[in-house]
Amino acid sequence: MNDLFLRACRRELVERPPVWMMRQAGRYLPEYRAVRERADFLTMVGTPELAVEVTLQPVDRLGVDAAIIFSDILVVPQAMGMALSVDEGVGPRFHQPLRSPGDFARLRDIVPEQHLGYVLDALRLARRALDGRVPLIGFAGAPWTLMSYMVEGQGSKSFTQAKRLLVQDPARAHALLARLAQAVGAFLVAQVAAGAQAVQLFDSWASALGPRDFREFALPYLAEAVRLAKAAGVPVIAFAPGAGWALEEIARATGADVIGVDWQTDAEDARRRLAGLPVALQGNLDPGWLYASPGEIRTRTRDMLAAFGGRSHIANLGHGINPDVPVSQAQAFIDAVKEWRIP
Ligand code: CP3
Repeated sequence: MNDLFLRACRRELVERPPVWMMRQAGRYLPEYRAVRERADFLTMVGTPELAVEVTLQPVDRLGVDAAIIFSDILVVPQAMGMALSVDEGVGPRFHQPLRSPGDFARLRDIVPEQHLGYVLDALRLARRALDGRVPLIGFAGAPWTLMSYMVEGQGSKSFTQAKRLLVQDPARAHALLARLAQAVGAFLVAQVAAGAQAVQLFDSWASALGPRDFREFALPYLAEAVRLAKAAGVPVIAFAPGAGWALEEIARATGADVIGVDWQTDAEDARRRLAGLPVALQGNLDPGWLYASPGEIRTRTRDMLAAFGGRSHIANLGHGINPDVPVSQAQAFIDAVKEWRIP
């Protein structure tokens, strides 16, 4: 049983840092594309057998030290009643983004076993299929990121609708953020009951907010979701890409066990800033460096590992892997971590 990942989350002594990659079950893997040819993305997410198959692919192929359940952050708004589609080349889209007060009122509060049972089934199956080989990670989107998606309807560069809501109707925004924190917290607790051995919160759109708005609309609700999830008794990872300036505040306000570090943040700086706090760090190779030669990937990875210092560190990319990265180059990253030893 390889429990390096869980030991590093708990800041116990490890012989080397564990490694996994955000978005490790994805289109860069030919065996993922083969499944994807038979089923569209939402069918894969909604069919536990298919979700488990692709969850295990990077474990089998690359030898990563953790599996992350194949799903998406947008299943929570979908379960609250929003029609979701994921179209080729367009990405995920809500057909009727939240606009009028009635749209907000129509959302339902979720009961995870009832409305997201397929994710929990996938976790139960994945846990059995992994048979203790590596730990299984569950995840959810953080309230601010989910709310932005729900009001924008899709990915955005300027977040005009989300900003409009914060500025023109902050009370409505706060009410929805509070509901989302409850939903996400309950969902993560249910994921742990179904077999997740750690959980990660993605606040992927933290980058859209300035410090003052991040502190008002993102951080308190990320913290509430972490607080609820922590009751399940497994390590909680908080990742807010684009908010590297706030690492200390995120660590203090959330009480998360592990803080994700994006690739834009200097690793040594992150380590120094968080040195006095009871957290492990996760990250942060620029996924763009996976376009380099295996030799260069190895050098970059070793530099990154040295910058984190090897203790209380989980090696990862500083964001999700890109779909056009050759598998051999993803493998070079994984192997470089596995060869490395704490100096
Ligand atoms: O990490 C993993 O391997 C687990 C699975 C996972 C997916 N999405 C699968 C996926 C996780 C953890 C996510 C999280 C997620 N989803 C985030 C937060 C992480 C981040 O990237 O910041 C966000 C913002 C989403 C929303 C989302 N879902 C987007 C923007 C897209 C389009 C991306 C793209 O490359 O087309 C998706 C679809 C999606 N989610 C894919 C995968 C593998 C691609 C689907 C496909 O076409 O096969």
